[in-house]
Amino acid sequence: TEYGTLYEAIGGFKTVKRLVTAFYKRVGNHPKLTPIFPDDLTETARKQSLFLTQFLGGPKLYSEEFGHPMLRRRHLPFEITPTRKDAWLECMAEALEEANIEEPYRTAIFERLTMTAHHMMNTPD
Ligand code: HEM
Repeated sequence: TEYGTLYEAIGGFKTVKRLVTAFYKRVGNHPKLTPIFPDDLTETARKQSLFLTQFLGGPKLYSEEFGHPMLRRRHLPFEITPTRKDAWLECMAEALEEANIEEPYRTAIFERLTMTAHHMMNTPD
């Protein structure tokens, strides 16, 4: 956005947490994604809340705890195929809706996440 950050525009940390909860509920039930995720998604979700906070322009919570995100490198242990990328984005699109994130922020966030998700692919189908 032109003024302020997406993080502030959507309502800050409480909204990020609502989004992340809605997202991992879907990830944990998606047959294309469960093979590469841990059974207990508590810590995964916590890290994602910290990461998305800084990704959307909020405080650098993820980096304070874990250092530089190096997201592509951190995903190399997992086979991220085009199919899994699509599944991830499908879960995220539904989560943005469930969390009631309004336009134009919803589309802006989804576009940024789509670019990042493409960058994360490391294995052919
Ligand atoms: C971690 C999958 C895209 C952010 C992970 C983990 C998996 C995964 C399996 C490890 C979970 C764990 O062991 O706790 C995927 C798949 C993607 C994808 C299939 C499809 C493209 C993204 C995108 C972002 C992202 C687009 C950022 C916007 C993160 C973060 C972590 C993570 C912050 C935690 C890293 C850490 O261990 O500190 N992802 N991911 N991922 N992912 Fe993704």
